[in-house]
Amino acid sequence: MPSGRKPGFRSLRTRFLFYFLVLGLMSLLLFGALFAFFAWRENDRLEKRAGEELVEQAKEMARDLELAFGLVQRFPDLPVANQERVTQLLRLEGKLVNAVSVVVNAQGYVMAPRPLPLRYPRQIDTSLLAKDEIRTGDAEISPLGSCLVVAIPLSIPTEYSYHNLVVAKRRDQLLQTSVSDLTRYIAIAGGAALALSVLLALYLSNYVTRPLHRLSRAAWEMAHGNLESRVEVSGRDEISALARYFNYMAERIQRGYQQQKEFVANVSHEIRTPLTSIEGFTQALLDDMVERGEERKRYLHIIQEETRRLQRVLAQLLALSRLDAGAWILRPAPLSLADFLREVWEKQRPKAEEKGLALELSLSPALKPINSDRDALEQVMANLLDNAVKFTPEGGTVSLSADPLPRGGARIQVRDSGPGIPEEDLEHIFDRFFRVERSRAQQYGGSGLGLAVCRELVHLLGGRITAWSQPGKGSAFTVELPGTLPEIPWEGSGRGEAVGGKGPGGPPKEGD
Ligand SMILES: Nc1ncnc2c1ncn2[C@@H]1O[C@H](COP(=O)(O)OP(=O)(O)O)[C@@H](O)[C@H]1O
Ligand SMILES: [Mg+2]
Repeated sequence: MPSGRKPGFRSLRTRFLFYFLVLGLMSLLLFGALFAFFAWRENDRLEKRAGEELVEQAKEMARDLELAFGLVQRFPDLPVANQERVTQLLRLEGKLVNAVSVVVNAQGYVMAPRPLPLRYPRQIDTSLLAKDEIRTGDAEISPLGSCLVVAIPLSIPTEYSYHNLVVAKRRDQLLQTSVSDLTRYIAIAGGAALALSVLLALYLSNYVTRPLHRLSRAAWEMAHGNLESRVEVSGRDEISALARYFNYMAERIQRGYQQQKEFVANVSHEIRTPLTSIEGFTQALLDDMVERGEERKRYLHIIQEETRRLQRVLAQLLALSRLDAGAWILRPAPLSLADFLREVWEKQRPKAEEKGLALELSLSPALKPINSDRDALEQVMANLLDNAVKFTPEGGTVSLSADPLPRGGARIQVRDSGPGIPEEDLEHIFDRFFRVERSRAQQYGGSGLGLAVCRELVHLLGGRITAWSQPGKGSAFTVELPGTLPEIPWEGSGRGEAVGGKGPGGPPKEGD
């Protein structure tokens, strides 16, 4: 298992939680502070307005009361009804403004309503009363508590001293919704938001960390030798993309590793076979088991041939490893294709004629010189021609042709009337160590590295190589070369292609 299973605060999970909490708290505090500031500012204004409103309402009540008292004057025989009327007025209108309204005499004693309800004051401090102008103020009125008090003088003609209408409204009832109520609601909403953000943080951190955990587990397994280790991929977000790339990478590593193993096995085989043969014949010669001079010579020829074969294989392996390492240095120079191909052709001619092959050379007069690397191209052509001559039986034909390409460069083709290559083998023909029918190959010699080197070199030269064949009729290898060498060598040459497989698309971009 990957180490550090308990990373504490370093883990994404805890960090996510922490950041979400801090974020939630911070926004709550900020919002709360702003709200409090505006609410308190607004509160004073609203309270003032509510006070003014209360004064207006009290004035109206006073008018109604004076009217009611006025009736007494006109109908002095109705004092009871009058008393009731006043009480009713005080009660009703008091209820309307949600305040306690009473009529007091000059000494502050409450005269109406009668009977006095339980939670009404019995006496009002005379300092709060008004003589001829309306008075408002704050005061402690028992049993009401802190109140806004409005006192209005009442003119009652029958009375000798003055009377007051006193309207007292509890401070905390002045506004329908108090700021403290609002603050409580905000606190509740804030708490809920905080809880929600914690839940969200938990969900999000799980959402992010679970696939990451799976990924690191897979990577750990991979690092410990399980090349089959893969991650399950679902979704289309960045982490799934990472998982997809991981799987692709794992796939390539696994296949590359497999190929590496096969490669080493192949190399050892290719080297051991001639070595065994050399060793056997040398031993025979040393043991003086061969009498006749002719036989000795034949043995020595075999030893020489096997040594050459070893040299060829090693040269090809060296070439491949240099190509793989990107250490093959190209020396571009103008090259007359016609002259060059004629030269290569001449080198192969003796072998072909010895074998009784018909030879055809057709070079288009329109061929233009190209800019390329002569040595690399020579290796390619030598191997293609060598194969054609090698695999074509007596009486067959080998031809070399070259034509210019419309967009510059040239197309060179090597054809033969040999045994051809089965269709299913055609796609492997450029793979390392691949040979059609090992038995047939054994007879001709060869390692199966030639075409692999050819492909690498042609790619390096910015061109491409293709094979066509019809079993029984012959084969054709076509090389297309650009007029000049590419500035950047062909990307993903060789191994990349051999490993193959479709990747998860292009390289990831930020903001994908
Ligand atoms: N012209 C050809 N005709 C038939 N088979 C061919 C021809 N060229 C290549 N091949 C097949 O492709 C295999 C790989 O060729 P190459 O890579 O040059 O290796 P080698 O020449 O060492 O065998 C050969 O072993 C042979 O089976
Ligand atoms: Mg070959």
